[in-house]
Order: sequence, then C-alpha cells, then structure tokens
Amino acid sequence: MKSSSTQVAIIGAGPAGLLLGALLAKAGIESVIVEQRSPEYVLGRIRAGVLEQVTVDLLEAAGAAARLHAEGLPHEGVELCFGGARHRIDMHRLTGGKRVTVYGQTEVTRDLMVLRAAAGLATVYDAADVRPHGFDGARPSVRFRKDGTEHELHCDFIAGCDGYHGISRQSVPESALETFERVYPFGWLGVLSETPPVSHELIYSNHERGFALCSMRSTTRSRYYVQCPLDDKVESWSDDAFWGELRARLDPAAAEALVTGPSIEKSIAPLRSFVAEPMRFGRLFLAGDAAHIVPPTGAKGLNLAAGDVGLLSRALAEHYSEKSDAGIDSYSERCLRRVWRAERFSWWFTSLMHKFPDTGGFGQRIQRAELDYLVHSEAASTALAENYVGLPLES
Ligand code: APR
Ligand code: PHB
Repeated sequence: MKSSSTQVAIIGAGPAGLLLGALLAKAGIESVIVEQRSPEYVLGRIRAGVLEQVTVDLLEAAGAAARLHAEGLPHEGVELCFGGARHRIDMHRLTGGKRVTVYGQTEVTRDLMVLRAAAGLATVYDAADVRPHGFDGARPSVRFRKDGTEHELHCDFIAGCDGYHGISRQSVPESALETFERVYPFGWLGVLSETPPVSHELIYSNHERGFALCSMRSTTRSRYYVQCPLDDKVESWSDDAFWGELRARLDPAAAEALVTGPSIEKSIAPLRSFVAEPMRFGRLFLAGDAAHIVPPTGAKGLNLAAGDVGLLSRALAEHYSEKSDAGIDSYSERCLRRVWRAERFSWWFTSLMHKFPDTGGFGQRIQRAELDYLVHSEAASTALAENYVGLPLES
C-alpha cells in the first residue's frame, strides 16, 4: 500500500471535480483528483453547454475562462416553437441584461484539464476500485489501485464529484440518505453535425409528434435532438430519418432553412430528475451529478455542478483560513435550495414541451394554452427567462 496525503481528495475529473480543484487552488488549498477513466474518455462525453452567468463567473474566478470568452456564443434570447410558429423570449430584456453563453461542456472540461496540468496539480487517471474511507471520522482517505499498486490518499475532506453512477453516494449508509426521483417515459435522440445552426439562437419545439431542440456548439457545428421512445435503438435511426423527423417538428421556415449533413455523433439519452439528500456526510461532500440529475430540457446540469463546487470551495476556504465551519455545516442546505429550484424549472419545462403517453388531446390543448399564455404574458415570460439564465448562487 502506497500512502500519500493532501487536504482535499476529489473523486471524479468531470466538470465538478476539475472546477472544484481549480477554485481550491486559487484559495491555496491542495487537492488530488482521482478519476477512474482516461482523459480521452472524459473528453469524449458529449454534453450540453449552456452556461449561466454564475458558471461563467466561477470559471473566471478559477482562471479558466479565456477560451470561453473568445469562442463562447452569448445568447440573449431563446425561441419556443409550437402551432407552426416560433416565438422569441427576449431573456436579456426580461432579466435586466442577463444572458447565457453557449460553450460545449467538453470545452469547459478541456480548459479545466489544461489549467490543472499547467499548474502541476495531481490528477490520477485510470484509477481502479476507488473507495472513500473513514469520512465519518476526522481522518478520511480515498483508496484506489493504479497500475496494480494499491494506494491510500489521506486527506482532511473528500469531495464526491463522481457523477450519478459514482462510488461516493453509494458509500453512504442507505439510512443516512433520502432520494427523490422521477424517470421520464421517453429519451432524447441527439445528433452532432458539422453544419451551420438552423438559427442563431436555440429553438425548443412542442409538436404533436414530440419534442425537438435545435442547439449548437459553434457557428459551424450544430447539436439537434428529437424526443424518442425509451426503447428506440440509435442504430435504427439513419441520418435521413433523423433529419426528416426534425424537420417535421419545426415551423416551415426553420424546416426550410435547416442545413443537414452526416452525423459525427449520434446517441440516445434517458431523462430523469433525481436528488439525494443531504449532500454532506461527515467529511464527505457530494457535488454535481453525484447528488442530483436534471432532465436536459433546462440545460441546468453543468450549472448546478458549478454552483455546488462554488459553494463548497468557499466553505473549505473558510474552514482553512478563518477556522470557521459555518460554510461546511450549511453546505448541503444552501446547495439543495438552489438544486430544487432548478429541478422544479427543469421538470416544468420538460412537462410543458414533451409528449407524454397520457398527454392525449386534452393534454395537448393544455400545453398549447400554456405556451400561448407564456409567450404573450410579460410575467410568464419573465419567469421562464429568469430561471433559464439562472437564479443567483444564493438568494
Ligand atoms: N472513481 C473515480 N472516478 C469516477 C468514479 C469512481 N468510482 N465513478 C465515476 N467517476 C468519474 C467519471 O468517469 C466522470 O469523469 O467521475 C466523473 C463524473 O463526471 P460527470 O458525470 O460529468 O459529473 P459532474 O462532474 O458532476 O458534471 C455534471 O456532467 O453529466 C453531465 O449533465 C451533467 O452537465 C452535467 C455535468
Ligand atoms: C445542447 O446544446 O446540447 C443543449 C442545449 C440546451 C438544452 C439541452 C441541450 O436544454
């Protein structure tokens, strides 16, 4: 057994773990990240990238926002498509000047990886059998195997940033955890293509054939989704079938303007809402997907992960610098308040935009009436806009 020590052991080198490590470094706090996969695998995951200002501010504070500012696409509005027409929600006006930035999560992860490597901070990739230990006591540790050698990383605190399927939440006694979940009866079939986006802003479409979303990664790379049955297989969707279905769910002008091309990535993702409470167990803190999942409709996943680690990094800095545990002791409660507001918005937007098995004719009319009210009501549009651009980290 090879022993080492650090102040904060971070399990998981996704956006949450990497951003936490960067924010801790800025506060002079040492961390080691232990990641089960390779850097290439982590970067290979295609995920949404609609960044709230809170997330942009945290990336700036971490020193990882240069490329984001150079290549990110500021978006001041979003369009809702229903009844054969598009309606723009002017988020910038409705929120007194706020906007989101479209910048792929893969790029956020890449920027954070480059920053960490340049700072010479320790990240153990391809770690096997990672286990958090002793987090209910004063000297926790993370054990793992690397190249056949057993390691024990002693630390003051463990941050479980290992995602929904990670080991951290699973290591908490079931009696200490309460979970809340809703699984949606459909999936999203997503396509990435080297084609110019159909519009300069995102289009969310409610159609009787099902939901569709037009998004982008840059001005030359587009990301599209159509709602599909949970038991659909990606192999059964040819590119032509996808483009035809997407066109059928858009308004005529967008369908006409759509530039199609070969898919460079095609996948089906399930949708779920999930929250584990609390998010702290002794000296183990859960952050990001390890603690909560949102359906992608509201593009909140990355933003919630960033908010969690923003609060956690401040709490740990308070512990080490001011010798105060007030932030640590209130971490879970403060995170969960923001998490549940995002869960509500993501659930509401998913319920409004998708065709459910029991939607039926009445349900379709109700959705249409709500959308009609929403795009013609300043109050309702403002409510959507302020949730979409992101609520304050603490309010
Ligand atoms: N040991 C070490 N690492 C692990 C383990 C384990 N037992 N289990 C999982 N991991 C790693 C995964 O390989 C992954 O790199 O933890 C990382 C978790 O990253 P994410 O799943 O991306 O979660 P998070 O960092 O919270 O980011 C949330 O990612 O899933 C999207 O929509 C979500 O945008 C949101 C963001
Ligand atoms: C994406 O670009 O992948 C994306 C954008 C907005 C969403 C979901 C996904 O709500």
